Amino acid sequence: MQIARTKAEIRKLCTQWRDPATPVILVPTMGFLHDGHLSLMRLARQQAGPEGRVIASIFVNPTQFGPGEDFDSYPRDETRDFDLLRAEGIDAIFAPEASEVYDPEAQTIVETTELAKTLIGKLRPGHFRGVATIVTKLFNIIRPDAAVFGEKDYQQLAVIRTMTRDLDMGIDIIGAPIQREADGLAMSSRNVRLTSEDRAAAPILSRALDQAEAMAPSGITASRLRSHVRAMLEAEPRARVQSVDIRDAATLATISGPLTRPAVILLAVSFGKVFLIDNRVVQPAQEIP
Ligand code: PAF
Repeated sequence: MQIARTKAEIRKLCTQWRDPATPVILVPTMGFLHDGHLSLMRLARQQAGPEGRVIASIFVNPTQFGPGEDFDSYPRDETRDFDLLRAEGIDAIFAPEASEVYDPEAQTIVETTELAKTLIGKLRPGHFRGVATIVTKLFNIIRPDAAVFGEKDYQQLAVIRTMTRDLDMGIDIIGAPIQREADGLAMSSRNVRLTSEDRAAAPILSRALDQAEAMAPSGITASRLRSHVRAMLEAEPRARVQSVDIRDAATLATISGPLTRPAVILLAVSFGKVFLIDNRVVQPAQEIP
């Protein structure tokens, strides 16, 4: 008989018993898959190894959309999604109806108290509560060893990492790099809803991030860099700038003075009714520990 005194010990034991040769990796999505999602599937497959299993979930989660947001118009095409996942060699798809996922009597939510209130949490109150709750439910339903999320949703990834740590979920969270169109626009299911004029204007986000990345090592302060990026976005008449933030890349804490550690520039910009986000981690001239 084995006695475990620490979380790490008991987890290691259970992992060995669950057969480490066949890990289960989950890729949660809201469907309408594009090449960005497929890159998450490939990363999951690579991490799972030849014997492991990759499960993709497709669920447009109503609880992460606020009143007046685009839940109803969020693009959906299940047949095409299934074909794409089949072609990627995904082992299973979990694609439930909302009534299967949410009990009408449910009383429990999951929330990261501080992280959920800042940045996009301010623009979309309740959004991260919906995300944390559905991701917890998916983790409990599927019980994966690891899960893959895109780095485009930088704050979402931070919320999920924090929640997984705080609630001792014992699931590895793997971040996957942003995939971009040839003109730099970050891939997103919402891009199809841009008008052709807005689609032509939208790469301003990645151009502003390119410039910021080039300027960051010059010793510029975070406040000046932020003003520069905002001015560049505001010069595009079709863009409605919702927020430009520069935060510590590891903790998302605010920064105003010179950059002394890697920082993340987070953009939220609307084109018509389409809400786009993008981000870039930039490096200081010299890192000060
Ligand atoms: O990033 C998404 O597509 C969603 O927020 C997620 C993680 C699948 C939860 O609904």
